[in-house]
Amino acid sequence: MKKDNEETLLDKITSLAKRRGFIYQGSEIYGGLAGIYDYGPLGVELRHNIKQHFWKKFIIDREDVYGMSAAILMPKRVWEASGHTELFTDPLVECKLCNERVRADQPEEISDHEESHKKEKKKNEWSEPHVFNLLVETKLGASQKSATPVYLRGEITQGVHVNFKNVLDSMHPKLPFGIGQIGKAFRNEITPRDFLFRQREFEQMELQYYIKPDEQIGKETFDIWKHHSLEWYYSLGFSKDSLRLRQHGPDERAHYAKDAWDIEYNTPFAGWKEAWGIHHRGDWDLKRHSEYSGVDLSYYDEETKERFIPWDIECSGGVDRAVLFLLLESYTEDEMNGELRAYLKLHPRIAPVKVAVFPLLKNKPELVAKARNIYSDLKSKIGAVEFDDNGNIGKRYRRQDEIGTPYCVTVDFKTMEDDTVTVRDRDSGEQERVAVSDVVSRLLPSVS
Ligand code: GAP
Repeated sequence: MKKDNEETLLDKITSLAKRRGFIYQGSEIYGGLAGIYDYGPLGVELRHNIKQHFWKKFIIDREDVYGMSAAILMPKRVWEASGHTELFTDPLVECKLCNERVRADQPEEISDHEESHKKEKKKNEWSEPHVFNLLVETKLGASQKSATPVYLRGEITQGVHVNFKNVLDSMHPKLPFGIGQIGKAFRNEITPRDFLFRQREFEQMELQYYIKPDEQIGKETFDIWKHHSLEWYYSLGFSKDSLRLRQHGPDERAHYAKDAWDIEYNTPFAGWKEAWGIHHRGDWDLKRHSEYSGVDLSYYDEETKERFIPWDIECSGGVDRAVLFLLLESYTEDEMNGELRAYLKLHPRIAPVKVAVFPLLKNKPELVAKARNIYSDLKSKIGAVEFDDNGNIGKRYRRQDEIGTPYCVTVDFKTMEDDTVTVRDRDSGEQERVAVSDVVSRLLPSVS
């Protein structure tokens, strides 16, 4: 089934996300905050499933990777060392007609803005571009006088680098080894836009993988993580032609990167856009933190008896961008039983609700009691299971389709005779009779 055209698809998923309890504008009843979103009951499950999948594939399944969780607030000195106070900037221009500020390096933002004035038949004029730092600053301390400026982390990475020595001293790992983390990052983006795409508060999932400082090892490790990252992204349920890898040109790379590649998603609203980055950070971070903190962050290699600052190969993905791209990728419209339907074709592992259980009729106590028993059993084994007895069965199927529930189990009159239920597949709409005793073993493997 063909997907809908560009802009309306983003509108459709934004509206579905709100209507069905995935994502709401942050502080909406007070007018909202640009670039800030809250996750509702289904959104938080979807996001949790993405993060769990990352944690499993990048940390739990590996012998050479540790997990950690660093604090959000960090002193200014950390960001001076990492180069962010000086270099974490975007170019900004200001419209002389209305004083709105937009990114000078994003031609579509400039032309969108100019369009709005053209309608009023006004001539556009822009200020000279100047650099704008994206770090979000706040203060800690009980008195105005003693309060110290601190930053909400602009990337979660630095929390790992500043703990490099702690992990060495407490876990005694041998190179190569990695440290993975998931957490919130904050950027004062000039123009937050496109729903979850460019936010001011968002979540990242990252791996810093430390290696010996050697060009060949660096190249090989970079390739391994580049492909691991792409395979992981596919395993969320993306089709082969929706994703690509693209190398950054030298003028595009962040200040810390020797080499950088992005996994990009082919968005319907602006073409290929970054989902995930793989960066060769060399010794940039550990060297700078050694210099700025005065603490030696080198590694002693017992085998070669050498001491050196390791290099870092980084994988860094946005959780919210994965949510947005998955909603865009999975939103599908088709015709079923002569009716138009919209559904989320989410991978069962990622879907927020795995199974919904229905009694065919709400006013038949024996069907409701049987459905409740099956529901309790499935819930104890699968977890994310819903019970629904509201409205006609067709409507209940549509509701579950719209939130991407892969399976619906219905208890009907035949169940009372032969202890079987219907199991309906979301994508094909096909229903199959399955013995109640076999339902868990049939569904569990595909949803876990
Ligand atoms: N530690 C490296 C780093 O932070 P980045 O390319 O700036 O690299 C990594 O960010 C990922 O974080 C991006 O690929 C994107 O998925 C996500 N991301 C970055 N800025 C974002 C924003 N303003 N809103 C939502 N996600 C963002």
